[in-house]
Amino acid sequence: MKVDLSDLKAVVCGGSDGIGEACSKILASNGASVIIIARNKDKLKKVIKELDTSNNQNHSLIIADFDHPDNLTKILDNELGHAIDILINNSGGPKGGVLLDSKSDEFITAFNRLLVSNQVITKCVVPGMQKQKFGRIINIISTSVNQVIPGLGVSNTVRGAVSQWAKTLALELGDSNITVNNILPGYTKTNRLKELAENKATQNSYSVSDIMEEWASSTALKRLAEPIEIANAVLFLASKEASYITGHNLSVDGGRYKS
Ligand SMILES: NC(=O)c1ccc[n+]([C@@H]2O[C@H](COP(=O)([O-])OP(=O)(O)OC[C@H]3O[C@@H](n4cnc5c(N)ncnc54)[C@H](OP(=O)(O)O)[C@@H]3O)[C@@H](O)[C@H]2O)c1
Repeated sequence: MKVDLSDLKAVVCGGSDGIGEACSKILASNGASVIIIARNKDKLKKVIKELDTSNNQNHSLIIADFDHPDNLTKILDNELGHAIDILINNSGGPKGGVLLDSKSDEFITAFNRLLVSNQVITKCVVPGMQKQKFGRIINIISTSVNQVIPGLGVSNTVRGAVSQWAKTLALELGDSNITVNNILPGYTKTNRLKELAENKATQNSYSVSDIMEEWASSTALKRLAEPIEIANAVLFLASKEASYITGHNLSVDGGRYKS
């Protein structure tokens, strides 16, 4: 299947690193113009320079912090004045830790970053999508939606809420030909995964490579994912061809989930 995103405009949140960076690159290399949003300007600028422009696309960046969604509306209203076809909701994962050790403000930060920000950004782009009767909203969540991950108490909690938010949105937007789907990545080789392994290693007497090996062996495919393997699934859901898929949780986890 050949995907053609020519003339489409995509927003990739957290598009400057890891899974988001891979999404930015694959959407651009299939013809889309991409706006990437994150906090660090230098990282954003570096990725923008690496995006494919062979289809005469215009790529741009927005600096924003999803931990403070109240400021987002103003920033995005100024910057997202044009119609958006594809929105990838994605950001950094919450701090790890056992649920009962987690403090209230860790929950508030995680909900702001991963749920309230999704809501604010989605509200900015939906009127344009409704007008053009086309839209693709894809949320990067986690396999913890299906099977919680020990030691990620706050994350497990907020991921379930994001999945329910997305399902509700899919029902509300279907009659405007806007699809809403979730990608549930498994263990993917990014800075986030490295950080989680380093934290786990300091708490236990394992090495980072032992932990990575244990994670890899918990999957059917016996390996970690490359970010591009997650982005390939995002590309399909963003395509016009994925026209009858909505409200879906798609695990891209090498068979981690045992049900
Ligand atoms: N990697 C995995 O194995 C895995 C598995 C399941 C789920 N996930 C989830 O998938 C998502 C992406 O993971 P990843 O591994 O690609 O993470 P990553 O490599 O850490 O990249 C995170 C991206 O989000 C941006 N970001 C982080 N915090 C932000 C904030 N407060 N406001 C705006 N932008 C922010 C980062 O840029 P700046 O720092 O410059 O803002 C970066 O572009 C996370 O929610 C993660 O928990 C990852």
